Amino acid sequence: MLPPADSLAPEWLSVPEDANDLADRVWPASATRDAEGVLVIAGVSAAELARDHGTPVLVLDEDEVRARARAFRTAFDRAAAEHGTTAQVYYAGKAFLSTTVARWVVDEGLRIDVCTGGELAVALAAGVAPASLGFHGNNKSTAELERAVEVGVGTVVVDSAIEIERLAAITARTGAVQRVLVRVVSGVHAETHDFLATAHEDQKFGFPVGDAADAVARIRELPGLDFAGLHCHIGSQIFGVAGFRESASRVLELHAALLEGGPVPQLNLGGGFGIAYTRVDDPTPIAQLAGEIVEAVAEGCAARGIPVPALSFEPGRAIVGTAGVTLYEVGTTKDVTVSSGAVRRYVSVDGGMSDNARTALYGAQFSARLASRAGGGEPQLSRVVGKHCESGDVVVDHEYLPADLVPGDLLAVPATGAYCASLSSNYNHVPRPPIVAVRDGRARVIVRGETIDDLLARDAGIDGAHAPEGDQ
Ligand code: LLP
Repeated sequence: MLPPADSLAPEWLSVPEDANDLADRVWPASATRDAEGVLVIAGVSAAELARDHGTPVLVLDEDEVRARARAFRTAFDRAAAEHGTTAQVYYAGKAFLSTTVARWVVDEGLRIDVCTGGELAVALAAGVAPASLGFHGNNKSTAELERAVEVGVGTVVVDSAIEIERLAAITARTGAVQRVLVRVVSGVHAETHDFLATAHEDQKFGFPVGDAADAVARIRELPGLDFAGLHCHIGSQIFGVAGFRESASRVLELHAALLEGGPVPQLNLGGGFGIAYTRVDDPTPIAQLAGEIVEAVAEGCAARGIPVPALSFEPGRAIVGTAGVTLYEVGTTKDVTVSSGAVRRYVSVDGGMSDNARTALYGAQFSARLASRAGGGEPQLSRVVGKHCESGDVVVDHEYLPADLVPGDLLAVPATGAYCASLSSNYNHVPRPPIVAVRDGRARVIVRGETIDDLLARDAGIDGAHAPEGDQ
């Protein structure tokens, strides 16, 4: 047995009674262990997934995505109906977008929010009706806006005065009328368990509340733009409703003032609903969130004597996050003794910050479990690290893993469905893993893994020998 590691463990992490258990909320509802202790997701075993698709592999539980999409839609529908209005749910594609996932969420009654021409192309390739798309971004190019107007994107969320003029020029040329929302900064910045309300948000998105009325007045003058209302997004991985409530109240102040100059049919309060990454995270259930947020909006409207607008929301992480589990193979383990005498076990896996940048980028916390079998022995404080040439290449900062973990074991990191594949890179020329959907005991590749040939395909070759014509 190793010397005590407690001094290296963060306060929130306790030694698990069973280092093989699958904590509720962190894993897809279908996750379980079979009789041999092998992790099984939607009826497909981790051993089979690794054998058929290699490691790392991002496994996405289709029913989990669908169920969460449905839960958002029904919760907001119900809450809105109680207050005499409607609610639309847009899936924020930045969390993870492929044609298959676009189809799943649209099947479940959601719309899709895209924020680049690339995301727009994926949604269109999935056959999503353009009218059900929202288009975000603080720097949409003229070409991106032209494409959006040309295909008939339902709503463009305008982010700057320059963008308003860009859209005006495009619609003047084409004769189209584009529906727009105006993104405002409510001054509420919400983070995980808390929110901060500041007078001024020093950041790049949207219009400060004080500037928004001028932007709306300008839009109302333009025949090619149809002003539909305000949009506000306060942050991501937010727990509780206090931040949403405060933000809604501030935005409604502006909304009410704008009603004096014409109709303001909609209000979009963005996304940001948090999920559990570790057993200590306790996100508010979707139905409760929806009920409390819509109620706060309705109260704010009643207080101002205005009708409740049509509402929309843009969850991303909360739809796909817990549906994803990344499987890695353990390559090496190392017990490192620090000056206090405490020991931390470093467990190196065959991926890392190229497939999950969140730990390195944000100091995000994840959890991990041995997946190829149930482990034994005293749980050891471990750090799961990747194979990249960088000491910050950490996948799971702190986790207790079975003492008998050895090279060749499979390790599963849950809650990797959101912002892992979409933030992935080729750092150190590591190919990106495949994404495999699982459902009812069957697995299918929805995004194939990259190959070394893929990596070399963009390399123009020595002296440009392989450059496509025109690129030399
Ligand atoms: N709507 C807007 C306008 C957004 O900017 C975002 C996220 C969302 C909706 C969806 O937020 P969600 O429900 O997924 O929290 N890469 C970071 C998160 C960046 C979020 C960017 N905007 C991460 O991995 O935590």
